[in-house]
Amino acid sequence: MNGYDIQESFSTLSDTPGDQRMYARLRFDIRWNEIARAALLCLRSDRQVELPLAAKSMREATPTLSVRSAFDLLLSALKLPLGSEVIFSEITVPHMLRIAEEHGLVPVSLPVDPRTLHVDTGEVVARITDRTRMIVVAHLFGARTPLEPISQIARSRGVLLVEDAAQALVSGHPARDPVADVSLYSFGPIKTATAMGGGIALVEEPLVRERMSEIAAQWPRQSRWDYLARIAKIGFLKLLSNRRLLATLVTAVSAFGGDADQFVGGSARGFAERELFTHLRRRPCAALEAMIAWRLADFETAKIEERTARGGNLAARIAPASLVASSGNSAPTYWVFPVVCQDPEHVVTQLRTAGFDASQISGLTVVGDDSPDHWFRQVVFVPNHAGIPKRSLERAAEITREAATT
Ligand SMILES: Cc1ncc(COP(=O)(O)O)c(C=O)c1O
Repeated sequence: MNGYDIQESFSTLSDTPGDQRMYARLRFDIRWNEIARAALLCLRSDRQVELPLAAKSMREATPTLSVRSAFDLLLSALKLPLGSEVIFSEITVPHMLRIAEEHGLVPVSLPVDPRTLHVDTGEVVARITDRTRMIVVAHLFGARTPLEPISQIARSRGVLLVEDAAQALVSGHPARDPVADVSLYSFGPIKTATAMGGGIALVEEPLVRERMSEIAAQWPRQSRWDYLARIAKIGFLKLLSNRRLLATLVTAVSAFGGDADQFVGGSARGFAERELFTHLRRRPCAALEAMIAWRLADFETAKIEERTARGGNLAARIAPASLVASSGNSAPTYWVFPVVCQDPEHVVTQLRTAGFDASQISGLTVVGDDSPDHWFRQVVFVPNHAGIPKRSLERAAEITREAATT
């Protein structure tokens, strides 16, 4: 199980004083009855699991174990010439780069504007060479990057356009941007409408889709017990998001001389990095496929509207003192709430002291840029989920604004 995203939301356990309430950065977007449904699905054999109707209406969709599996599958199907260049919008998860490299491809970094999260067409043109075969644009933090201008360049140069929508599911009908060749959606643990794993690939070209299915057919299926173990882990971590229970656990583990951070970190630990491809090259079990379809069928659009309004309010309180990444986007939905700060450590300390588990930690990286000055390295993720009362959120905004300007 890939734990990097899970650990993100539990990174500061040991900072949580027993009696102080700490608002987590993220909450798992799944209810107990949905966790129970997934567990029950695991008790049936793959043949006995029925997919809900919603699954059948998604003609282009290939269900996968994750977005990373989908990307690996796509690259296996495409067999691009070794040494081909893939332009990545610069903020992504490191495994996407590793997968490209495993296929003998060379990642090239494309800057992202922190205010709008757009990529600039001129910058794309500047990076295209005779070796460019693909452009991968990630829609970050629940916002979308307009693809039309890039697609024109891509088409004129015979380059594939892939949209990485892992963070951008906002409806029960995930669609492919008509100008993109491929769209990838994730149902990983911390994602919107999580299925506790899984992804889907929407691929326009039928031949590529068929080739992907043929390759996937040779991959082993994830065992339903593997999925059940993952469900149990997420259930355990969700329990811990109950702050009273968490405080009890921290006290109990500490009483036995343990380290609560390590204890929880251990329970969320992922597979060893060297096993990455063995892990990714599996098909999802039927229970996971069914869960993806159920999460889409029961998708609550009202939650996205509420999240967008909440994020908008918070952004209005923080700006213009600090830059809220995506606030200049035409349709931000604030899946997470990243603020670009001059002194991010100070902002994190101030927020944590006040009981908000703000952090700079994320599973994302900047392609080909280690510099501490990059805007992404100045980002603080401020807790902003539906479980935080309005007044507390306003307090978080006030602290962020003050700490960011001092
Ligand atoms: C931008 C982006 N791309 C790809 C992924 C990988 O998704 P998955 O965990 O489904 O492989 C993530 C996961 O966080 C992501 O944020």
